[in-house]
Amino acid sequence: DVIDVRELGATNHFTFDPGFMSTAACESKITYIDGDKGILLHRGYPIEQLAQHSDYLEVCYLLLNGELPSAREKAQFVDIIKNHTMVHEQLKSFFNGFRRDAHPMAVMCGVVGALSAFYHDSLDITKPRHREVSAMRLIAKMPTIAAMAYKYSLGEPMMYPRNNLSYAENFLHMMFGSPCEPDKPINPVLARAIDRIFILHADHEQNASTSTVRLAGSSGANPFACIAAGIAALWGPAHGGANEAVLNMLEEIGSVEHIERFIAKAKDPNDPFRLMGFGHRVYKSFDPRAQVMKRTCDAVLTELGIDDPQLELAVRLEEIALADPYFKERNLYPNVDFYSGIILKAIGIPTSMFTVIFALARTVGWISHWQEMLSAPYKIGRPRQLYTGSALRDFVPLERRN
Ligand code: ACO
Repeated sequence: DVIDVRELGATNHFTFDPGFMSTAACESKITYIDGDKGILLHRGYPIEQLAQHSDYLEVCYLLLNGELPSAREKAQFVDIIKNHTMVHEQLKSFFNGFRRDAHPMAVMCGVVGALSAFYHDSLDITKPRHREVSAMRLIAKMPTIAAMAYKYSLGEPMMYPRNNLSYAENFLHMMFGSPCEPDKPINPVLARAIDRIFILHADHEQNASTSTVRLAGSSGANPFACIAAGIAALWGPAHGGANEAVLNMLEEIGSVEHIERFIAKAKDPNDPFRLMGFGHRVYKSFDPRAQVMKRTCDAVLTELGIDDPQLELAVRLEEIALADPYFKERNLYPNVDFYSGIILKAIGIPTSMFTVIFALARTVGWISHWQEMLSAPYKIGRPRQLYTGSALRDFVPLERRN
């Protein structure tokens, strides 16, 4: 049942819903989730079909525009994105302000927010054309900035984008390429896996980061600032930081014989430890993205011939947890982050970059929601609170306080 508080009269009713367990803050036509049945649709299309038959830029077009593109529209869209992959040369010096060992998400928050100082020719959010250009710039530049953050952390030269490559290939080229070998071929299996990871993370309706972007955008803030806010919200281990946390957890568990001890810790109500990559606020049967991710993971490990003990540990952990009544009763299944970390690790991407890749892929979801909100009448987001502090009292001068 949906209760529309506008019809009840906002002054007569006050809902208290910490964590937004049952409060919708907006209408949206972009993504549908049925958490009980494990269904995820983008503009009506099932995520499994998009992951199987589409590619990331096509999914970007779909999320932004509501329909799959024709061949001509797709070629035009890809062309526009390719035209925007470079960043302002001066942005390079921005990186120098960071320590080399800074977490790349810290760098992303700063650099993406700073784009508003470089591309201020398109910041009038009331103009649809400005909003469109900003969306294209963000989608196109995120891989470049993410790879720059990685190269900066290594002290290696930053790679320029190569526009004869696909979006995913280009990202791998900028991450792992070197000026000594600028035309090094990209492994198509790994590029396809990265493209799938991008698709599977492209949007997920009103999660913490997307709601943050909408809330920031509702004040009229510029798109680059809004996306930087989304990146900040995504960073936490309960959200986008989970795939990094999965690998750290597997590292900590160490080997198969320690699994039972960690399962016991996860079940202990007095222990804050949780199985990272398990559970989801919305999916209560299975996460459809996790199933595609698992297949992609198998393909990558076969291609690379990797016999990874951490994967064996992950598979065993999943088996033991799924057979345990604690996890069954609470509907705790592996989520999308459980396998993505293993794929990224196999490709050679360091754990600190995992959430950056999530942010890169989710940018289209964030900007689509921002666009959707600004394209129709909207109000500034202003949650209420239930005040539980002191009642009215008189000020006590300093000399009379003990
Ligand atoms: N390990 C052990 N127990 C868990 C876990 C877990 N991963 N997740 C939830 N629980 C337990 C809770 O302790 C609680 O038990 P109780 O009823 O006995 O108190 C019950 O399951 C319900 O948990 P909530 O925290 O109320 O569930 P919520 O929907 O608020 O949280 C969340 C969802 C944050 C994802 C949680 O499952 C979690 O912390 N998972 C681990 C982190 C993670 O993988 N995050 C990625 C999410 S997907 C994404 O962002 C792309």
